[in-house]
Amino acid sequence: MHLLLLNGPNLNLLGQREPGIYGTDTLDSIEASLTAEALKQGVQLDCFQSNFEGALVERIHQAMGVSQGILINAGAYTHTSIALRDALAGVAIPYVELHLSNTHAREPFRHRSYLAERALGVVCGFGAQSYGLALQGLIHHLHQQE
Ligand code: DQA
Repeated sequence: MHLLLLNGPNLNLLGQREPGIYGTDTLDSIEASLTAEALKQGVQLDCFQSNFEGALVERIHQAMGVSQGILINAGAYTHTSIALRDALAGVAIPYVELHLSNTHAREPFRHRSYLAERALGVVCGFGAQSYGLALQGLIHHLHQQE
């Protein structure tokens, strides 16, 4: 099984960025532990982060025919990007939306997600653990489809 982890804008700053909200783990360490966790379960995980919406759209397109599932923390694009929503719908790859923070307990503009409606599920509020929980949910779902 082959999965793709996508991280959007400002998530490259994890570890330094508003640690009271996002914690102190870096994106590198999250990606490394998630890749190791995936491998234990026989899953190859590709990781990609970009601060550019179009780069994320293109990376989603490249997953077609390669990845069976996508984990996405789209950062602020979650709340703004019809382009990302359309890209995910266009490639028709099942995906899980995730966030470190509980976006519903924050400013009203973070309550809306353009991605959630078509996601298999949404995980938020568990800090870096949200990534592991989303991975488990996605792998479990894909095994059930086999
Ligand atoms: C975030 C939540 C978003 O609202 C915010 O713009 C981010 C990070 C999270 O992981 O909690 O950049 O996606």
